[in-house]
Amino acid sequence: MSQTIRRLKISPSILTADFGHLATAIADAADGGADYIHLDVMDGRFVPNISFGPKVVETVRALTTLPLDVHLMIEDPDRYLAEFAEAGANLLTVQVEACLHLHRTVQRIHELGCKAGVALNPATPLEAVREIVPFVDMILVMSVNPGFGSQRFIETSTNKLRRMRKTLDELNPLCDLQVDGGIDLHNIDDVVRAGANVIVAGSAVYNTRATPGENISQLRKAASAGLWQEI
Ligand code: DX5
Ligand code: ZN
Repeated sequence: MSQTIRRLKISPSILTADFGHLATAIADAADGGADYIHLDVMDGRFVPNISFGPKVVETVRALTTLPLDVHLMIEDPDRYLAEFAEAGANLLTVQVEACLHLHRTVQRIHELGCKAGVALNPATPLEAVREIVPFVDMILVMSVNPGFGSQRFIETSTNKLRRMRKTLDELNPLCDLQVDGGIDLHNIDDVVRAGANVIVAGSAVYNTRATPGENISQLRKAASAGLWQEI
């Protein structure tokens, strides 16, 4: 059986960064070895919080060459896909719960020249994304209820990731598996072993304990067992 080697990628979420010094936050993450910048877009409807829109994505686009991983926690995301693509998003992730015609949405994202991700909330069963798996570049398993940074990791997410990876292996082995919410030095190794290969980290990267670069290296070290996953 041929083996696929998958590199662990870190996607720092700027939600918890200091927006007064966004340029520094982005530069620190890039210098510290981030693979993406994760941008959490919230509309106050799909989630009980409002963050930012295409303007901030465009601002971040001008600050880095890293791919922008844009997580759309918004209702009816079709209305804004083009704007986010034009703003410079490389990967657009929509929530399965927010899409009536998910296959069409994924198609549209690809037509716009972006990679397509689909996220599922903690209470959403894996079955909800099974039919779309062959068509996407990434599945995002939310390990907190979306809306806020610095929440506690929901422990059952590890088992959900393991089952999701099994489905990906079966239907789309090259598909990335992202995890988002409450990831820290204590649980990163578990989620990587469970099959996650793109790790979103907000408060574990942007905090007062160390610089973003130091935090990213610590996370990589903590996940060392899964740094290179062989499947
Ligand atoms: C939650 C967001 C996450 C969050 C991550 O709604 O999608 O990206 O900001 O932050 P931490 O790592 O602090 O949970
Ligand atoms: Zn996110």
